[in-house]
Amino acid sequence: MEERILCEELKAKIMSAEDAALLLKDGMTVAVSGFTLSSYPKAVPVALAKRVENGEKIKLSLYSGASTGDELDGIWADNGILNRRLPYQTNRKVRAATNRGELNFSDIHLGVFPQNLMYGFYKKPDIAIVEAVGITNEGNIIPANSVGIIPQAVTLADQVIIEINAENSMDYYGLHDVAMLPNPPHRGVIPILNVRDRIGKPYVDCPKEKIAAIVFTDQPDGHRKAIPITETYAKMADHLLDFFDFEVKKGRLPENLLPLQSGVGTVSNAVLEGMRKSDFENLEFFTEVIQESVLNLIDDGKVAYASGTSVSPTPDGMIRFQKDVNRYKDYIVLRPQEISNHVELVRRLGVIAINTPLEIDIYGNVNSTHQFGSGIMNGIGGSGDFAHNGYYSIFATPSTAKDGAISSVVPMVSHVDHTEHDTTVFVTEYGYADLRGLSPKERAEVIIEKCAHPDYKEMLRDYVRRAAQSSKLQTPHLLKEALSWHQRFLDTGSMLPDE
Ligand code: COA
Repeated sequence: MEERILCEELKAKIMSAEDAALLLKDGMTVAVSGFTLSSYPKAVPVALAKRVENGEKIKLSLYSGASTGDELDGIWADNGILNRRLPYQTNRKVRAATNRGELNFSDIHLGVFPQNLMYGFYKKPDIAIVEAVGITNEGNIIPANSVGIIPQAVTLADQVIIEINAENSMDYYGLHDVAMLPNPPHRGVIPILNVRDRIGKPYVDCPKEKIAAIVFTDQPDGHRKAIPITETYAKMADHLLDFFDFEVKKGRLPENLLPLQSGVGTVSNAVLEGMRKSDFENLEFFTEVIQESVLNLIDDGKVAYASGTSVSPTPDGMIRFQKDVNRYKDYIVLRPQEISNHVELVRRLGVIAINTPLEIDIYGNVNSTHQFGSGIMNGIGGSGDFAHNGYYSIFATPSTAKDGAISSVVPMVSHVDHTEHDTTVFVTEYGYADLRGLSPKERAEVIIEKCAHPDYKEMLRDYVRRAAQSSKLQTPHLLKEALSWHQRFLDTGSMLPDE
């Protein structure tokens, strides 16, 4: 493993995870690599948790690109180490601790978070812990399966701990395109005109003097769910493909579509998986996370190029990617999340944004983050970066949740992440609702008829009828009833968010 450190003098910094963890002190702010369970540090966080298990009192604030695994988020939440968490998480233990009020979670657009860090909007990180495949002659860092906020973390932190993970080979060199944007008023145009354009370096600049510890590990990333291709997801994919076909016929999309973005989670992944059977070819992705479905589409020969900030497949998909990284480098570039999610690029490239909500309402608003209005689920992630600026802003969800007990189409969302002004198409297994140019009342009709589950259609129609009878206003609501729609699920006591 020492040969992965090309800078001789830095070999003196090799130490155990336990020794490196001693650099972390109570009250510090730590910024880490990691994005959707890809390439987050594992050895040092576990070593720190052991100190706490042995009786030390340590509370830290944690910044990451996006979600990390149990060896970081999970074990730190379990041990009460997390005091503050930004900007996203998907860990059940962090979610539960947040919903118990034990830690402060601030949910921030992932494309905006790195720039806010550089603007000095949040407390500066004291230490960065970064998983890498190796270190260059000059001491710069070669990332692994994600870039996320590594450039900002390394720039701002006083000290850097590097975990070199044997899981990923030095062949990763060249997979990444790392650039940082200057703060206003010095920011210029980002010169990415095509998905495959590169504007940066294949490594993250890191002053040698900052590197305080180098630790070797061989732990794989946390487990990501396999894609269940249920009938529901297959139907949703069919409706999405019908929409794309329609748009191509109308001349609003080229034959190979426009660059696609697909959100995290089972639903987005499964819906994209459905594109494997479509006739669309030469597809491009300008997305945040390159999930299993994108690797599959690459292997099927359907993808011309994919840009993201993280590769995040299932464990089997990751082994496939790791073994064949030299081939995948012809198809994939990983960028810092500030660039992968940048609104300027999303709009310039005409990205088709496809994200998954928890619930949608009859007037076009979307809740992506809160169960029953109160319990945090994951966070907004990059959905807002793409949804507000995409060529289309598509939200795809099964029409019901919790085995049919909850309708995903509701009179009024219990929490708003994306407003009616930012949504163009809703998709469920029953069809797609094209909302472009419709008034709220027209939207309500289309959403209910095309997207709602038959078990809930009549209830929703009845709500709309009575709301319209009570008022001729632009967006008629029966406020008490809209809220009690959510309350009745909570009243059963069986569907409370993780606590
Ligand atoms: N009310 C309450 N809970 C709901 C719900 C609703 N309307 N709809 C879904 N859920 C629950 C599911 O029951 C499931 O709970 P469980 O984990 O206890 O079983 C959970 O939400 C996840 O749903 P799942 O069907 O497994 O879908 P998913 O893995 O695709 O996740 C989101 C869906 C919305 C949670 C996920 O896509 C997300 O976090 N989105 C916001 C961030 C985002 O869009 N990022 C993309 C930017 S690149």
